[in-house]
Parts: sequence; structure tokens; C-alpha cells
Amino acid sequence: MRRKIVAGNWKMNGSSDLAKQLVGYVRAELDTLDNGVEVVIIPPALYVRDVLDQSGGSVGVGVQNVSQWASGAYTGETAADMVKDLGCGYALVGHSERRQYFGESDEVVAAKVERVLASGVAPVVCVGETLEQREAGEAESVVAAQVQQGLCRVAADQWSSIVIAYEPVWAIGTGKTATAEDAQNMHSAIRKVLADIGAPAESISLLYGGSVKADNAAALFAEPDIDGGLIGGASLIAEDFVSICRSMPAGTKG
Ligand code: PGA
Repeated sequence: MRRKIVAGNWKMNGSSDLAKQLVGYVRAELDTLDNGVEVVIIPPALYVRDVLDQSGGSVGVGVQNVSQWASGAYTGETAADMVKDLGCGYALVGHSERRQYFGESDEVVAAKVERVLASGVAPVVCVGETLEQREAGEAESVVAAQVQQGLCRVAADQWSSIVIAYEPVWAIGTGKTATAEDAQNMHSAIRKVLADIGAPAESISLLYGGSVKADNAAALFAEPDIDGGLIGGASLIAEDFVSICRSMPAGTKG
């Protein structure tokens, strides 16, 4: 059985007021949510404490980025141990914006995944192809390489902590979503790659991200290999985010 997760990635948006209002609202709505979905909020690091204070333990909390180093003279970095210390359960690793603007390579992603796992935090490892790569027919091979290389340091007993988010770069923040069928095909391909590298492919949660909205979430989440979503823009609007959480079908995945 796989975890069903809907995670809201606020990116560099929000405020401590938003943290209080939005999380309070989401938490109250969760009382009537009975579809077994785990709801996670991933605010900017400075607002993690505000979100944790509001979460009451029923909303999971994560960070958007983490250092590949354990501790020491790395000004501006956040250590995975600190993320754990604060009470966060998740850390995004290798989001396409980190790859694009901060030069995060698959080697760095692999080092961060290793560090995050060692701290007892679950990495949400982001993969996805650009439009150019998709048009060149390379989408599956690009994503396969990101999965293989990004997860190459995961030990056999650590797979249960891994979450993967497939986010086609061309769908992020553009309003263009992959069709449910395209997303399902890629998720199924990712499961094959995971099986090939010896991972328990059927038990790993695979989230889809890229312009998931209240009106397209249900079709995506209905697909057998889509276990949830990583939501950017729509996660900043409390009603939309809750509506996306409600779009997850009841019953088990996997
Ligand atoms: P979006 O972002 O929902 O705004 O497209 C998704 C993400 O980058 O995680």
C-alpha cells in the first residue's frame, strides 16, 4: 500500500500571516477529509516554525531545499539535521527551479538525498523533462536518468522513506498540465526504472506536479500510478488547496 500525499510547495511566496490563516483553515477542513490523504505544507524555511505551530500535528511540514553537507562553514545553508530537529518530516530535493537556477546536478541531488535520509527526513525527489527534451522524444530517458542517478545512494532499507515527484518542467507554473494519460504513462515508466534498480517500485509514492488545479486534480489522482500531487500556485489559495486534497479518491493505491 502506498502513501497518498498532497503537498503544497509555496516556493518563495507567503508570509507569517498566510501561514497562520491558510494552515488553520486547512487543518479545520482536514477533520472532514476521510480519503486517507496525507497533507503536507512546504513553506519558505523562515515560515516553517509558523506552519508547524498551526499544524497541530495533522498537517505534515517540509522544506524546499536542504544542504548536501552535514554542518559547518556553509553560510546560508540549512542542514538536514536542523530540518529534523525542528519537526519537519519532508524535504524537497532537486526541484526543477533548483536545478535550473542553482545548478543542482544529479550528483548534488544524490548527495542531498543521502544526507536527508541519514537525518531521518523523507526526501521528495523531483524529476522531469523540459519541453525541448519532450519534443525530441527524450522525456522517458531524461527522467529515467534523473531517477537512477538521484537515487543511486539509497540503501536497501531506506526505500520506504522515498517519495518521487514527477514534474514536467514545461507544466510548472505555465497552466499547461500533462494529460492524465501522459502523466500516468510516465509514472508507470518511473516504476519500471525503480524496479530495475532494485527498489520496491510498487510501494513508492509517486506524485505528479505541474499546474495541478482544483479542476484537473481528480482526473490525475484517478490514475493508478499517481499517488498524489505536488502543488505550487494553487497551494497558496486555501480553498483551492483543500479542494485538491479532496480530489484524492478514497481507497488504497498500489
Ligand atoms: P505549479 O508548481 O503547481 O505552480 O505549476 C508546481 C511545482 O513547481 O511544484
